[in-house]
Amino acid sequence: MADNIVLIGFMGVGKGRTARNLAAETGRFTVDTDDLIETMVKMKIRRIFQEQGEPRFRQLEQQTADWLEYHVNGTVVSTGGGFFKVRNLNRLGRVVYLHSPVEAILDAINSHAKAKKKIKKRPLLQDMDRASVLFNERLPEYRRVADHEVNVEGREIVDIAAEIAELTRRMV
Ligand code: S3P
Repeated sequence: MADNIVLIGFMGVGKGRTARNLAAETGRFTVDTDDLIETMVKMKIRRIFQEQGEPRFRQLEQQTADWLEYHVNGTVVSTGGGFFKVRNLNRLGRVVYLHSPVEAILDAINSHAKAKKKIKKRPLLQDMDRASVLFNERLPEYRRVADHEVNVEGREIVDIAAEIAELTRRMV
């Protein structure tokens, strides 16, 4: 098993920001699965969904997970909100689920200065009611696959990163 720290959780919960902070805190590098996919196929996520459909995107996530399993170690991996469904998730490293109630996540996105841009780039966030249903469907699954759950609602990013660093301290 690779010794990465893999952050999973719903869109907009702060996986990327947490990953960057945690990387700085632990002296690790960090990669983001959405960024890896966009680089691999030279297309934005939004365009992959539009032109090739969601199943193709999920295949690319699996391909990314396969690459991470064999080629990446000692890294903080920030993932897209549906990445947790890959077959080998737990072989990539320690899996940490970042939790916040869906209302808080959607409120934060909607009130963000760059709300329009944040929503536009996420195909599954076009309808907030559907996003909320998706969250509720996924919640038990996030919890089932995770090794740890960290509550992030209303907390400072540095505190969240410090908690994850402590949880995963014995891994390095
Ligand atoms: C998705 C989440 C997105 C991105 C894609 C699908 C999902 O990533 O991978 O739009 O299925 O929840 P973020 O969680 O970084 O927004």
